[in-house]
Amino acid sequence: MSRSFLSVSDISALEMDTILSRTKSLKASINSGEKIATLADHVICLLFEKPSTRTIAAFEVATLRLGGDPLYFSSQELQLSRGEPIKDTARVLGSDMDGIVGRVFAHDTIYQLSLYSGIPVINGLSDLEHPTQIVSDFFTIQEVKGKLRGLKIAYVGDGDNVCNSLLLGAAMMGMNLSVACPKGFEPNDEILERARLNAKVTGSSLVVTNSTSEAATDADVLYTDVWVSMGEEAEREKRMKAFAGYQVNAQLLKLAKPDAVVMHCLPAHRGLEITDDVIEGKQSIVWQQAGNKLHGAGAVLEFFLRK
Ligand code: CP
Ligand code: NVA
Repeated sequence: MSRSFLSVSDISALEMDTILSRTKSLKASINSGEKIATLADHVICLLFEKPSTRTIAAFEVATLRLGGDPLYFSSQELQLSRGEPIKDTARVLGSDMDGIVGRVFAHDTIYQLSLYSGIPVINGLSDLEHPTQIVSDFFTIQEVKGKLRGLKIAYVGDGDNVCNSLLLGAAMMGMNLSVACPKGFEPNDEILERARLNAKVTGSSLVVTNSTSEAATDADVLYTDVWVSMGEEAEREKRMKAFAGYQVNAQLLKLAKPDAVVMHCLPAHRGLEITDDVIEGKQSIVWQQAGNKLHGAGAVLEFFLRK
C-alpha cells in the first residue's frame, strides 16, 4: 500500500532521521555530479493550486536529478478549474502517474488526492501544514548546529501552516519551540494538542505566547513567516494591524543566543515580518535553508515513491 506525506505526523522520529540522513548523502551526491537513478521510470505529477518558487523548483529538479520525469500542472489548466471534483481528478492522475506533489488551499483537497489516487501524495503546502518545508529546515538546522534535540526555536508571527508543521516536528524531535503570535492567530488547536502529547514523550517544551521577547530569549533559532499567507489576502488590512510588532529585527535578535541563526521559509516581506538588515545579516541562513529544499525534496520523494 502506498504511503503519503500529508502531515509531519505521518512519519515517526526514526523515519525523520532516515530522511534527514538521506538528505545529507543526496546533497553530497548531487553536488559531486554523481548520476542517480533511484526514481528512474517514475512520473511525478506536480499539481499546484497556488504559486510557488522554491517548492516547485525543488521537487522538479529533485525528480530530474533522481532520474524521474516531473509533470507540472497548474490547477487552472485542468478541468478542476471548470468544476471537476478533486476525487475524479485524483483517480485519473493516480492511474497515469507514480506520485503527486500537491500544493492546495484546503487541507481536505490533499487528503482527497491521497484517498482517491491510490498513489503516494506529498503535501507541498496546504492551509494546515507544510511538512516538506520542515524536513529541509531541520536538515539545515542540523548542518549549522550539529543537532536538533534540546535546541530552542523561537517562531515569531502567524500560527500558520509552517508554524503547525514546526510544532509537530519540534515535538517529535525533542526540540523546544516557543511561538510568539498575536491573540487570535495562534496555531491550530488540534495540532497543538497532538504536538503536546508527543512533547510529553520526547521532553520538548512547547510554549505559545503573545510576547516576542519571551519567545526570543536564549533562542538558538529565530524563525518567521509571512503575516498574510496565500489565500488570506482579504484579511490583509486586519493582519497588518494585528502583526505590527511581531517582527524579527536586530533588537529581537539581541535577545537570542549570540550564535543564534535566523530562518524564514520565504518568500519574505522586508520591513514586515523581518527587517532587511536581519535577513541580509551574518546570522541569516535563509539562502542555505532555501537551497536545501532541493535535497530534502529528493529524500522525501525517494522515501515515499521508490518502488
Ligand atoms: N518556502 C516555500 O514553500 O516557498 P515557495 O512558496 O516559493 O514554494
Ligand atoms: N505561510 C505561507 C508559506 C509560504 C511558503 C503561505 O501559506 O503562504
